Parts: sequence; structure tokens; C-alpha cells
Amino acid sequence: MSETRQRPYPEEGCISRRRLLKAGGCLGAVAILTGGLPKKAVASEGVYPQVRIANLRDLTPGKVIKFDYPLIGRKSLLMDLGCRVEGGVGPDRSIVAFSMFCTHLGCSVELDRDKGLLVCECHQSEFDPRRSGFVIQGPAPTHLPMISLEVDSSTGDIYAIGVSGLIYGMRNNLLDGEEVK
Ligand code: FES
Repeated sequence: MSETRQRPYPEEGCISRRRLLKAGGCLGAVAILTGGLPKKAVASEGVYPQVRIANLRDLTPGKVIKFDYPLIGRKSLLMDLGCRVEGGVGPDRSIVAFSMFCTHLGCSVELDRDKGLLVCECHQSEFDPRRSGFVIQGPAPTHLPMISLEVDSSTGDIYAIGVSGLIYGMRNNLLDGEEVK
């Protein structure tokens, strides 16, 4: 069944390119969040690897870092949206990550900074990274799989520890590939 489609909601401090540029560089002042090293996520499909993907120092609002997770070739996006968002981590709860594979036919999605949305290059499905990858506009039938993140409070390292949702084309996110080290 398709998810309910809604238009994006305006939110103070988030999203448009102008806001992201204005927000740049403000992260340094704030304290860090979770305590201790992250744990591996255990899901029905198996045990997800714990993979360091960046450090808080590497991110500024609007910046995107691409990485593979949970297996090599499973392209994903890490981004700082510049404001508190659903499922966000980091000092401002503004950092989230998603699979890059559109849930329609698997084309790549990229962050459109003006819209503040993840947009598919093939048929322009739109997903809201502020709301756990929710579908704003189809034809994509379901939300983008969200990568679970944790931050090491002592180092600022950001770890991928799991995936919420099935990556396009997969019957199990952890099968048929080589694990990222
Ligand atoms: S593959 Fe993304 S909208 Fe069709």
C-alpha cells in the first residue's frame, strides 16, 4: 500500500539553500550526545555491521557524504540538515542518513538543497529527509530506507549501525554482498 502523500511543511532553521548557507559553521559550539561506543543493531535479517562513516567535524549544514552500507555497493547518503529532524543525531539532532536507491526502480536520489528533499534522478520521486524519508511525491511506493546512526561521545565519530526498511532490489539487506569493513 502507498504511503499518504503530503506536501513538505515549512520548518524554521531547516532546509532551503539560503538557510543552510546562513547556518554554516554553527555546529562547533554545541555538546555531543550519546555516551560510549555504539552497539551493533540486531534485526530480523541479521546483525548489522558497525561502520564508522565520518566525524562530526566533517559535516556542516547542507553537506552530504556518500558511503556504502551495510554492504559494498549499497550507496547511502549522510547529511546535516541544519535543524532538528526525526531520527537525527549529532549536537542539533540534525544528521541523518538514507539509502541512495529510490524505492520505485532503484535509481539514485540526491539532496536538492533548494527543496530540502531527496529527489530521484529518473522519475522525480521526492522524499523528505526531515521525516525519516517519507514519500512526498511518487511514483515511489514507500519511504527511503533510513540508516540508523550513533555518535561516539568521546571522539565525535559517526557510525552506521543498521537500516530501517528494505533497500531497493533486496530481499534481505545483509545478503548477496561483501561487508563494509
Ligand atoms: S526510479 Fe525513482 S522515481 Fe522511478
